[in-house]
Amino acid sequence: ACWTGVVGIGEAQMIVAHRGASFDAPENTLAAFQEAWKQKADAIEGDFYLTKDGHIVCLHDKTTERTTAGTAKLNPAESTLDQLRDLDVGSWKHEKYAGERIPLLDEVLATVPQSGKILVEIKCGPEIIEPLRVVLEKSSLRPEQIVIICFNEEVVKQAREKMPQFKANWLTSYKQDKDTKMWSPNLDTVLETLGKTGATGWGTQGRDEVVTAEFVREIRKAGIECHVWTVDEPAQAKRYATLGFDSITTNKPAEIRKAVLGG
Ligand code: G3P
Ligand code: CA
Repeated sequence: ACWTGVVGIGEAQMIVAHRGASFDAPENTLAAFQEAWKQKADAIEGDFYLTKDGHIVCLHDKTTERTTAGTAKLNPAESTLDQLRDLDVGSWKHEKYAGERIPLLDEVLATVPQSGKILVEIKCGPEIIEPLRVVLEKSSLRPEQIVIICFNEEVVKQAREKMPQFKANWLTSYKQDKDTKMWSPNLDTVLETLGKTGATGWGTQGRDEVVTAEFVREIRKAGIECHVWTVDEPAQAKRYATLGFDSITTNKPAEIRKAVLGG
C-alpha cells in the first residue's frame, strides 16, 4: 500500500491490525488474526510472552484475568502452556467466540500470507530472545515479513544483535509533567534511544501533541522508519498518513484502510 502522494522510507506503507482485528474479534486470538486478513490488513500485530515451560504465547496483559472474563488469573511466566491452553479467551468478547484459545507464536505466524507481515511485540524481558530466535528462524516466513517490536530497550538491542535479519522497532509512549506540562521522552531522548538500541524503526503512541511534523522529519532523517499506534479515528489516520508514517496500527483495519487508501 502507499498513502496518496506520500512515500515512506520502508519498503511499503502498511495498515497493521492491532492484536488482530480486535474491534470485531477477541484480541490476540486466531479468530482476530483471520479477521484481520479478511479485512485486508497488510500486517498483524500481536503481543507475546514466554511461559514457564519455554513456549511463546500470544497475550497482552500480565495476567489472563480480563480476557477470560475474570475466570482465571494466570501469569504466563509462572504458568505452563497446558494451563494457559485450558482457558477460553473468546467468550469475554462475544459468545460466538467461545472456545478460542491463547495461540502459540507458531500458530500466529502460520496465518500470515505470502504478501503479509507480522509485528511481534515482546511483552517480557530478554529471556525470550533465544527461544524467539529459534521459533522465528524455523518459520516459513521470509525475514522481511517479520518485525520485532518492544518498549524494553534491552530486548530491542539484543534482538538486533542476535537476529539482525529481522527489523526491530523501539516503542515509545509519553508522559506529561503535571507542573511544567512538558512531555517526555522528548525528541532528543527518542533519537538517542533509537541509536543506542540499533532499532530500525520507531513505534510511537499516536499522541498528536508530541508527534509533530518536526519530530517525524528528524527521525526519518536518521534513516529510521516511523510507525504509529493505535489509531481508530479516520481523521487521525489521515493525519499520520500525511506525516509520512510507514504504518498505522489500528483495531479497525477495514475502516482505517478505507480512510487513508480509499478501500
Ligand atoms: O503496536 C504497539 C502497541 O500495541 C503497544 O501498545 O498496549 O497495545 O501493546 P499495547
Ligand atoms: Ca501490542
